[in-house]
Amino acid sequence: MPPRPRRLVPGLRGRIVGALLVTTVATLGIAAVALLGPLEQQLRNSALATLQRDVSQAKPGFERLNLAAAQTSPEAQRRLQSVANALAVRIGAPNVSVFAYPLVQLTFFDAESERGDTFDDVATAFTRIAYGKTGKAAVVPSFGTLDGTDVARVAMPITLPGRAGQTYVLAVRKTIEEIPGAVKVVRTAFITAALAGVALTLILGIPLAATLVRRLRRLRDASLGLARGGRPVEVPVDRAGDEVGDLTRAFATMQRRLQHQEDARRAFVATASHELRTPLTSLDGMLELVDDDLRGGTPDIEDAVQLLGRARAQSRRLGRLAADLLDLSRLDAEVDLRSEPIELGELSRAVLAEFEVGTADRGITSRLEGTEGACWALGDPGSIAQILRILLDNAVRATPEGSELRVELHDGSGPVTVSVCDHGPGVPEGERDLIFERFQRGRATGGRGGFGLGLAIGRELAERMGGELVLEDRPGPGATFTLRLPAARAPEADPVPAV
Ligand SMILES: Nc1ncnc2c1ncn2[C@@H]1O[C@H](COP(=O)(O)OP(=O)(O)OP(=O)(O)O)[C@@H](O)[C@H]1O
Ligand SMILES: [Mg+2]
Repeated sequence: MPPRPRRLVPGLRGRIVGALLVTTVATLGIAAVALLGPLEQQLRNSALATLQRDVSQAKPGFERLNLAAAQTSPEAQRRLQSVANALAVRIGAPNVSVFAYPLVQLTFFDAESERGDTFDDVATAFTRIAYGKTGKAAVVPSFGTLDGTDVARVAMPITLPGRAGQTYVLAVRKTIEEIPGAVKVVRTAFITAALAGVALTLILGIPLAATLVRRLRRLRDASLGLARGGRPVEVPVDRAGDEVGDLTRAFATMQRRLQHQEDARRAFVATASHELRTPLTSLDGMLELVDDDLRGGTPDIEDAVQLLGRARAQSRRLGRLAADLLDLSRLDAEVDLRSEPIELGELSRAVLAEFEVGTADRGITSRLEGTEGACWALGDPGSIAQILRILLDNAVRATPEGSELRVELHDGSGPVTVSVCDHGPGVPEGERDLIFERFQRGRATGGRGGFGLGLAIGRELAERMGGELVLEDRPGPGATFTLRLPAARAPEADPVPAV
């Protein structure tokens, strides 16, 4: 039953576009969560780390000063203030202060912005120093707000060599109000890019899906047409180099092959039935004549014997045709052939012996050449013997009385060959390919020939064994047919007995 036409869509186009969209949106969403979420925090942390690094690089400058004197001497205080100012200018942080314990501010900066500063980080740093913490462990990095502005803060202890007990803390604040702005810029750029990506997906995806579905539909219609009617349908031409194009071209090739096979099948059935009918009709005619003769009361025995002899010849011919047709159907059904090492010398001798009676009657001598050593080929013993019989049968038929037939064996570096050479009329140039076709006989055979199946069967058998059967292009009278087979190594065990 032909397949019921099914709707290819809903959805192939929609599903392709939907899948593209979902993929794009999901990718962008994941990227947004992974990138934009932690972006602000990462920028803040990085600003704080940079500030801490800058402050620790500036710390030795403060350690060289006489900080104890700064509380009493205006000159020392002025020097301290100028070092603090220089640091403030260098790192772009307006608030740089130095504290003596307990929270005595030695330097002053921007009074406005300092007013709101609780310096709680400085107190924490003093506490850490009091608990014996030193180096990085005593540094207090933090975030805070001054005058409503976000700032990164660092409170770093200043240890003065040789003045144990006297501790100072350097406090620096740097505004980070530009970070939210930078994050906003990145976010806006990301959203714009995402929207452009989605729009591009739609612009490219919809026409692509539509074209794909249209091409598939045409192919589907052609397949359904072929399935319904079995007749050749018009296959859409698709020159695209993609998978659908390949599929369309493969479909067209498949349809051509099917058509070719169907034509060949019809021709085969017509020829085979014709070939069967001819000997059957003549067989029937001869039997009828014998029957008439016998019923007539005074049978002509000599005539009857002659007719029966011809009838037997026709029935043998029919038997051969039946055997050939069976061989062909086996070949068409691709029944597996054996593949084993065969000694061609022994096999050829055995097949030649089968023809001895027929050749001796006509004074034909046969020779086997090139068998100094064993000649091993890989193949099916029964099929190789059959090919040799086909070739020898043709050669015996073609060769004139009293001449010679030769079977030549050759095993060089390539494939192993066995050739059958005769001294007959040879094959005319225009028939060299034709004679290998089924039911094709040469013109010169007249009525003597068979059914024109031998060489076709032989060639197919040879190819099924990985070899070939060819008509050699040799000068001189006669014809030489060569069977080439893959070479085989002699087996360790006894050779396979010849068929
Ligand atoms: N040795 C040969 N010399 C000359 N012509 C040949 C020779 N062998 C084959 N041919 C030509 O090839 C044709 C096809 O040969 P093929 O063996 O296929 O068919 P056939 O001998 O006519 O019939 P079948 O083998 O079916 O009984 C022959 O009819 C003949 O014209
Ligand atoms: Mg033949």
